[in-house]
Amino acid sequence: MSTAGDTQGLAPSKDNQKSAKLSLDGKDFDLPVYEGTVGPDVIDITRLYGDTGNFTYDPGFTSTASCESKITYIDGEKGLLLYRGYPIAELAENGNFLETCHLLLYGELPTKAQQEDFNERVTMHTMVHEQMTRFFTGFRRDAHPMAIMVGVVGALSAFYHDSTDINDPVQRDIAAIRMIAKMPTIAAMAYKYSVGQPFMYPRNDLDYAANFLHMCFGVPCDRYEPDSVFAEAMDNIFILHADHEQNASTSTVRLAGSSGANPFGCISAGIACLWGPAHGGANEAALRMLEEIGSADRIPEFIKRAKDKDDPFRLMGFGHRVYKNYDPRAKIMQKNCHEVLQAIGADRDPTLKVALELEKIALEDEYFVDRKLYPNIDFYSGITLRALGFPTSMFTVLFAVARTVGWIAQWKEMIEDPEQRIGRPRQLYTGPDERPYVPMKDRG
Ligand code: CMC
Repeated sequence: MSTAGDTQGLAPSKDNQKSAKLSLDGKDFDLPVYEGTVGPDVIDITRLYGDTGNFTYDPGFTSTASCESKITYIDGEKGLLLYRGYPIAELAENGNFLETCHLLLYGELPTKAQQEDFNERVTMHTMVHEQMTRFFTGFRRDAHPMAIMVGVVGALSAFYHDSTDINDPVQRDIAAIRMIAKMPTIAAMAYKYSVGQPFMYPRNDLDYAANFLHMCFGVPCDRYEPDSVFAEAMDNIFILHADHEQNASTSTVRLAGSSGANPFGCISAGIACLWGPAHGGANEAALRMLEEIGSADRIPEFIKRAKDKDDPFRLMGFGHRVYKNYDPRAKIMQKNCHEVLQAIGADRDPTLKVALELEKIALEDEYFVDRKLYPNIDFYSGITLRALGFPTSMFTVLFAVARTVGWIAQWKEMIEDPEQRIGRPRQLYTGPDERPYVPMKDRG
């Protein structure tokens, strides 16, 4: 297949100037080519089956753009991550999470008045229906908090009927605000349930991240004042995880939503997908690996194992499907990690020492350099979260709290897209062809 023709300007365009030619069984087919603002062009194959009778084959969707989106852009080669055009580092350094939520949801950074209004709306929705607390007692005490999240978030649709009409833009907006507001409350409740402590109601005088820490680490018999370094680190972690383009959980949310499912159910599907170790669970694995290494003198042994193709061991927290350069979030996370460890007086933490040394060695090692294997966000987030006081079972839950805004922004964008249709991938079938039913007595 070849692409040809002129393209004009930088504006995203479907007035295709370019086309790709596909030669198949002696016939030529012209396929339109569209250009985005930045990033690779896409070849439109929506008519391919109708015109040629063929499907495309792309397991893992590594070459497939599943939608048009204006929310997040990643350039993996350059190590660039933009939310609505703004570099992640600038947002993390200068902004806060609720400002980022406004940006992702509505497309622009809020004015002061918009920010105050948005903060107020989120704050006023942080409590959950009191009856929901009974849900938690139905789970075994040792249930994984992600299992609780999948169930309870899905159950929101049974409590908030006035925000499940996906065709009403006002209801869609309320659902988005509710979800952003209630996720920290539900996550903190899941944590409190697992440690056998009473649930803490949200505090409206605290900002989003500080309130979350209060709900997790406060107890009714004492007044808990969240440490400002901790609250800032938490806020930063939320910003860094807020969206990441069409990753597995986001694509799950979009696919679930494409059938017209209610938004709470869609986010619950996203949470289930995020739980997988290849997606949200890697920071836990990275922390465990650093603890297993234990001291810098054991690093060469683990590096050797990571390179050995007969050993399934991989350096956890290294490499990324999209970033073939330093993950821009990892740089911010590294700074965050140092600040938190310094604040708790643990900057001599042996795990951090191992992490720094391992990073240095791996970045100079030919194997990792040649394969463009750089530390990803999970390399440092596990150490930071542990220092903040979270058990490893909560790491993915925190990821889900942060990613909720991305999921809901992507879900809204999909519902509002006039080209939206129910998602229905096709397949290359390699099972048996049609055959007659064999009665039991003839089955050998
Ligand atoms: N340690 C050692 N070798 C590695 C690693 C690693 N962490 N990652 C990739 N490689 C090697 C791999 O063996 C292959 O080598 P070769 O070409 O000789 O066969 C080469 O690098 C390319 O690997 P790949 O598996 O084709 O790369 P991928 O893009 O499919 O995998 C990955 C990406 C993240 C699954 C993988 O790098 C990995 O398993 N990393 C460790 C787990 C991890 O940190 N995951 C978190 C990802 S970020 C979370 C998120 O954004 O949601």
